[in-house]
Amino acid sequence: MKHSVFVTRAIPGSGIQMVREKFEVDVWDNKFPPDRDEIASRARNCTGLISLLSDPIDAALMDELPNLKIVSQYAVGYDNIDVQAATERGIMVTNTPGVLTDTTADLAWALIMATARRLVEADSYVRGGNWKVAWGPSLLTGQDIHGKTLGIIGLGRIGSAVARRAKGFDMEILYHTRSRNHYTDEVDDELGGRSVPLGHLLSESDIISMHVPLNEQTEGMIGKDELFSMKKSAILINTSRGAVVDEESLIWALQNGEIWGAGLDVFEEEPTQEDNPLLSLNNVVVAPHIGSASIDTRSKMGIICAENLVAGLKGDKPPNLVNREVIDND
Ligand code: GLV
Ligand code: GLV
Repeated sequence: MKHSVFVTRAIPGSGIQMVREKFEVDVWDNKFPPDRDEIASRARNCTGLISLLSDPIDAALMDELPNLKIVSQYAVGYDNIDVQAATERGIMVTNTPGVLTDTTADLAWALIMATARRLVEADSYVRGGNWKVAWGPSLLTGQDIHGKTLGIIGLGRIGSAVARRAKGFDMEILYHTRSRNHYTDEVDDELGGRSVPLGHLLSESDIISMHVPLNEQTEGMIGKDELFSMKKSAILINTSRGAVVDEESLIWALQNGEIWGAGLDVFEEEPTQEDNPLLSLNNVVVAPHIGSASIDTRSKMGIICAENLVAGLKGDKPPNLVNREVIDND
């Protein structure tokens, strides 16, 4: 049987070409994502699906795709996919970890620096024609980064890459994570990092960066109490998933000076609405979910996504299989 594959958006690089050489490929060629019904109808007979994090792949959709064998996600996070439902239906789910680790850690750092040093405000100030006095003793003063304490919530691949970058800034590194792993050993041994309870991290850190996946345990884990316990000079960075922070509480904290600033690449709802109060706050730097958005990384993600898909459809174990039970159960 010739496999056919639906790709929910044109993705950059040679990944799709690799899939085209082996299987029949249909690519959704619109800058807006297909809605659920459009995915259901275009992928109806497909054995493979390449999905993005904006595509809700739920049980009901899977039931409309009876031939589906693999969902190859073009992202490391896969909270848009009901993995349990996929496993129950014998559908493999894969993701693209690894390649985007350093690119996402770079963006977390870009947000740390832009927020702490008020870079976006400074840029608007100059472009807006406000620079009338050559040098101002208190003009756009921000927070130091060097020598401060960085608190990392979720110390996996990306969290540890963010920690590694802090070394050049002579920072103290605290982290809070679900379980010990080789990243925690590396951060302890090489960077002098310390694993601490969440409350300790929140009250002692100057910059707090979120690196947890979104799931039932992490949803809303930073709410009013957690924000209240942070320093008033604290900066919160989120490049993971918007919903790990309760956005309403974050707005409250930023408006009331409970924390000093925030750098956000992710939101509870994406795209966020133009009237989101976060967008009217000067102490917030925002980006439209571009953590992995370097030209090289987005192309490599396409190749990994293709390799996972090809392996799965050929009957091999995909290199980045998320639900290994699907194979173990066979
Ligand atoms: C992006 O957020 C990803 O999960 O790859
Ligand atoms: C994601 O790649 C993570 O483990 O941080």
